[in-house]
Amino acid sequence: RPPLRVALAGIGVVGGGVVRLLETNRDLIARRAGRSIEIVAVSARDRHKDRGIDLSPYRWEDDMDALVAADDVDVVVEMIGGADGSALTLARHALGAGKALVTANKAMIAHHGLSLARLAEAKDTPLKYEAAVAGGIPVIKAIREGASANLIARVYGILNGTCNYILTQMERGGASFADALADAQAEGYAEADPTFDVDGIDAAHKLSILAALCFGTRLDIGAVTANGIRGLIAADIREAEALGHRVRLIGMAERDQNGLYQHVQPCLVPADHPLAYVPGALNAVVAEGNFVGRLFFEGAGAGAGPTASAIVADIIDIARDEYGPAFAMPVDALDAAPVADAGAR
Ligand code: NDP
Ligand code: HSE
Repeated sequence: RPPLRVALAGIGVVGGGVVRLLETNRDLIARRAGRSIEIVAVSARDRHKDRGIDLSPYRWEDDMDALVAADDVDVVVEMIGGADGSALTLARHALGAGKALVTANKAMIAHHGLSLARLAEAKDTPLKYEAAVAGGIPVIKAIREGASANLIARVYGILNGTCNYILTQMERGGASFADALADAQAEGYAEADPTFDVDGIDAAHKLSILAALCFGTRLDIGAVTANGIRGLIAADIREAEALGHRVRLIGMAERDQNGLYQHVQPCLVPADHPLAYVPGALNAVVAEGNFVGRLFFEGAGAGAGPTASAIVADIIDIARDEYGPAFAMPVDALDAAPVADAGAR
C-alpha cells in the first residue's frame, strides 16, 4: 500500500516526541501498520527555534492553511493546544478537507468534540484523540472498543499527571507546591498555562470525554464541576498521612437513577487503595462495567514519549483503516440518546 503521509502541527514537547518515535521505530511501525508512515510537513510558531531534533528532512510550512491543504498530506496531527484559536481552525479545516485528524488536545475535544465529530462523519474521515486522556494509557480504545458491550456505572481515577506529580513530591520529601510545579513544568508534564492543571480544569476536560464514552452521552464540559489542588500545603499532606490516607486529585463520573454526576476534586484516598500507590506523573483510570466487572488502567499520564505513543497508535489505526465513530456512537445517535441529567445530585 502507498505510504500514509502525515503533517505535524506543533513541534513542542509532544510534537518532538512524535517525530522521535516515528523516526526511531520506523520499520517496526511500517510492519505493524502494513505500510510506511511518513512525515511530509511540519509547522510551529517559530521555524528558527532550536528543538533538539533535526527537522531538515521535512518540509516546513509557516502557513497552517497550506499545511492542511497540501495534496501530499493524508493525516493532520494537531499538537498546538488550546480549546479554540489556531488548533480549532486547523482541526476544522483538516476535517472539512476530508483529511484524517489526530489530536492530543483535550481542551478542544471537551469543548468542540461533538461538532468536530459531526464534521468528520460528514466527510467519512477519522477523528482520533487517544493522547487527549491519560497520556500513554490506551484508555479511549479500551473503553470505546474493548468495553463497548457494557453498561458502565462509574468511571474515575487520576487524570492529571502534573497534580499527581506535585502531590507525590510533596509527600516524599516535603517539597513545596511551587517547587514541585516548577519540576513538573521542566519535565514537560504541565499545560502551557499550568492553572489548567492545578485548578482541575485539565482533569475536567478528560473526565468529560471519558464520561461521554462510558455512558454513551453527549459530551458536556459545562456539567463538570472542578476543584483543584491550589492552596494545598505540606501540613495537609502530613495530616492526611497521619489519618492513614493520601491526597489525590480524583475525577469521577457516575450514573444513577438521578442522572450523571461529574466532578473533579482532591480526595482523601485510603493508603491501601490502588489509587494511593500511583506515583509521580502516572495516571490511573477505573471503569466498572456490568459484564466485564472492574477495569483498572495505569501508566504514564503525561510527557513526550507516552503521549507520542498514543498519537502514533492513532496514526497506525488510520493506516490500517481501523476506525469508527469518534465517540460511543455516531453523533446523530448521540443526539437521540437520553440527555445526561448532569449535576442532578
Ligand atoms: P508545547 O507548548 O510544548 O508545544 C506547543 C507547540 O505548538 C509548539 O511547537 C508551538 O510552537 C506550537 N504553537 C503554539 N501556538 C501556535 C500557533 N498559534 N500556531 C502555530 N503553532 C503554535 O505543548 P505540548 O507539546 O506539551 O502540548 C501540545 C498539546 O498536547 C496540548 O493540547 C496539550 O494539552 C496536549 N498534551 C500534552 C501532554 C504533555 O505531557 N505535554 C500530554 C497529553 C496531551 P513553537 O514551538 O514555535 O513555540
Ligand atoms: N498537563 C497534562 C497533565 C498533560 O499533567 O496530565 C497530559 O494530558
